[in-house]
Amino acid sequence: MSSVTTTQSPKGLEGIVATTSKICYIDGDRGVLAYRGIDIHELADHSTFEETCYLLWFGKLPTREELSGLQARLAAERKLDPGIITMLRNAPAHALPMDVLRTAVSALSFYDPDETKNDHNANVAKAIRMTSQIAMIVAAYDRIRKGRTVVEPDGTLSHAANFLLMLNGEKPSTTAERALDIALILHADHELNASTFAARVTAATLSDMHSAITSAIGALKGPLHGGANEAVFRILKAVDAAGADPVEHVRGMLAQKKKIPGFGHRVYHTEDPRATHLRVMSRDLGASSGQSKWNDMSQKIEAFVKAEKKLNANVDFYSASTYHILGIDVDLFTPVFAVSRISGWAAHVIEQLDDNRLIRPRADYLGPVYPNKYVAIDQR
Ligand SMILES: CC(C)(COP(=O)(O)OP(=O)(O)OC[C@H]1O[C@@H](n2cnc3c(N)ncnc32)[C@H](O)[C@@H]1OP(=O)(O)O)[C@@H](O)C(=O)NCCC(=O)NCCS
Repeated sequence: MSSVTTTQSPKGLEGIVATTSKICYIDGDRGVLAYRGIDIHELADHSTFEETCYLLWFGKLPTREELSGLQARLAAERKLDPGIITMLRNAPAHALPMDVLRTAVSALSFYDPDETKNDHNANVAKAIRMTSQIAMIVAAYDRIRKGRTVVEPDGTLSHAANFLLMLNGEKPSTTAERALDIALILHADHELNASTFAARVTAATLSDMHSAITSAIGALKGPLHGGANEAVFRILKAVDAAGADPVEHVRGMLAQKKKIPGFGHRVYHTEDPRATHLRVMSRDLGASSGQSKWNDMSQKIEAFVKAEKKLNANVDFYSASTYHILGIDVDLFTPVFAVSRISGWAAHVIEQLDDNRLIRPRADYLGPVYPNKYVAIDQR
């Protein structure tokens, strides 16, 4: 094996196939996204987040019995060590939920019964545990920062309903529960996106699941990735507050060479199939709750950006108005992305470790020519 490579990678590794995987299929030209080969549209129409988790972690759809087994395990893991709650309470008042989540997830390892184990079954157990815990951390921290009591989980509820209960202090309507459930399905996995790649790189050093998921959360935070949904809503809010024309606002951003959050995608050259569902959800939820203005604004912006820049809306564009109508604060949007994506991250970590090799690419060196001379400090 040579110690150097002559192949130069495109910037941002665009188009580079960096691993094999049996989890997620994407056809960027046809706008297809499928988990384990099952189209995301079918899953959004018929599945639940729990069933989708099973599909991602175990590679097939569960039988009724297998599904209820997983639901019971997820419900049984709805507990946080008091040390984590203390940590949430000790976060400074200005701490961003995404930063608190990153730190708390790292700290979950202190209390994990399988902390020292990195085998397949231990990592499946950690996937289940962390899926329940991440939802609880996001909800509990939001309550704590608002001076409210932390709500006890309800083991009889679905993952989506329990999250909304713990966030809002009351059981959600069936419509709200199903809307969040679909959003969780749509966000669950997306092949080698930046955060999943980060998780796999960390896992491949034979570190551990908590380190891998902490790496992933750090990567998800950025506005070019999961942070875009927050940025979208900040635009909608600014336009609404100023009574401005949404199209003129976005035209102004483009004139300043700013990117419009929620548009464009590295892989899709057509509509992001997740946006197809979220657009309808945002419209229907808006109409039923008397908050159509967010969807109206979004549709105007979408039509303009498409005409002006030939860019399609991505997953983050309509999830912004959807989450807002569900009563989720804007700085929780990216943490809610993590509430779902933990399922995909964990599936990829498990897959990576089932057939591991260290991920260690090379860089094309462009610095001063070797050998460069070391000059003593008093001669510089
Ligand atoms: C998703 C994203 C990071 C993909 O980036 P990428 O594959 O590296 O594409 P680039 O940033 O190189 O963009 C290619 C061209 O399209 C333009 N473009 C891409 N997304 C754009 C956007 N949202 N608004 C305006 N212009 C955009 C770029 O300015 C660039 O134009 P240029 O060739 O004239 O310089 C990018 O589209 C983006 O920043 N979108 C906004 C953030 C977002 O929504 N992220 C969530 C993704 S799910």
